[in-house]
Amino acid sequence: MRKITAVERQREIFIRGAAGIRPVIPADPVLLAGKARLQMKPEAWAYIAGGAGQEQTMVANHSGFNRWKIIPRMLRDVSMRDISTTLLGHTLPAPLFLAPIGVLEMAHPSADRAVAAAAGSLGVPYVFSNQASFPMEETAAVMGNTPRFFQLYWSQSDDLVVSFLERAKACGCTGIVVTLDTTMLGWRARDIDFAALPFLKGMGIAQYTSDPVFQQIMETPDPVPQAKPQITLEAIRTLIQATRRHPGNFWTNLKTGAGLRAVRTFIRIYSRPNITWKDLPFLRKHTDLPIILKGVLHPDDARKALDYGVDAVYVSNHGGRQVDGALSAIEALPGIVEAIRQKVPVLIDSGFRGGADVFKALALGATAVGIGRPYCYALALDGQAGVADLLANWMADLELTMGLAGCKNLEEIRTCELASA
Ligand SMILES: Cc1cc2nc3c(=O)[nH]c(=O)nc-3n(C[C@H](O)[C@H](O)[C@H](O)COP(=O)(O)O)c2cc1C
Repeated sequence: MRKITAVERQREIFIRGAAGIRPVIPADPVLLAGKARLQMKPEAWAYIAGGAGQEQTMVANHSGFNRWKIIPRMLRDVSMRDISTTLLGHTLPAPLFLAPIGVLEMAHPSADRAVAAAAGSLGVPYVFSNQASFPMEETAAVMGNTPRFFQLYWSQSDDLVVSFLERAKACGCTGIVVTLDTTMLGWRARDIDFAALPFLKGMGIAQYTSDPVFQQIMETPDPVPQAKPQITLEAIRTLIQATRRHPGNFWTNLKTGAGLRAVRTFIRIYSRPNITWKDLPFLRKHTDLPIILKGVLHPDDARKALDYGVDAVYVSNHGGRQVDGALSAIEALPGIVEAIRQKVPVLIDSGFRGGADVFKALALGATAVGIGRPYCYALALDGQAGVADLLANWMADLELTMGLAGCKNLEEIRTCELASA
């Protein structure tokens, strides 16, 4: 496993620069997004970069950080710096992990597999998405011993939920991240305007099509017959794409209609808007892995999570993709940290774009920070190498921000004072 230190990372970049080689992955997050955009199809860019409604939550996720300022402290001997930490029994090289992101094949054909390999090369945990482009077993296989978690969307089929939990454990996942904020898809204006949903083309449903329970559900007749789409050239193209993505032989799948049936079955069962707190014991009964609730933004929900015995709380507004006009994750953090009273770890994502953002979250009491869209952009630009470069940059940035602020390790960040603006 490669160990990153900030000074070596800078040296490596500048020495290559002296030979005329510029980094493929821009360190500037705005340039990174802009460069990735040029690489992606417009619909892929819309799906990844877009958010709900007028995208006010996305704006808040960035501007929220301005409420706090770091106050650098001087003359504190920061020659030895250590950004390692622990999370749910794992020792990590940095307080960072890769958040679950579905349909990564829109960014790069190697999708989750490339991300997992990059994460594994640096020991950074990866949360496999329920909407991944490759089955969890394939992504787990390229991660070595690096910690991995499985993110669950609670489906209409409890049997499928149990099957996902069992598969996650069998492929070495050491926690289940239950995403609570996506009981339905948010109103994502950019996708609506393209009238495009990747799942309909068979993208992002590999966890389902590789699942024995899902395969059985596929063979049961649909209780509510679905409307037949108009037969247009685009409809035929969609059919071919869904068929090509379905496991097995293309021609057999075309003959049996398996690709289309998989998409229809997925649409029928993927979301369960009626889940409540009372459903959580079901998960506890069917897995002994730590349970992490993703999407918590209110202190009362955090308290309730403790009452239900969850193992970690994950503050997130899904990168502004679900509720427009919502509270930013960083602004929600202090209330959640207060409610949790250090009983369980507090994870966070949504809007993080570099070391200073991570520093502020740690100073406000977060245990670890999830990287979201930036790693999709790095994936789009340079596959596995791009994601590894991005992770190395984030670690270097955090280590330097920490040292220059006068802190030697995360303990010192956690006890340092931020100025409120
Ligand atoms: C394209 C895309 C797909 C996502 N898919 C999932 C998913 O399958 N499951 C999930 O829990 N969160 C998903 N998320 C949300 C991320 O886990 C994370 O909360 C979000 O990206 C953080 O915001 P940021 O990208 O602005 O940092 C997705 C986000 C994006 C951008």
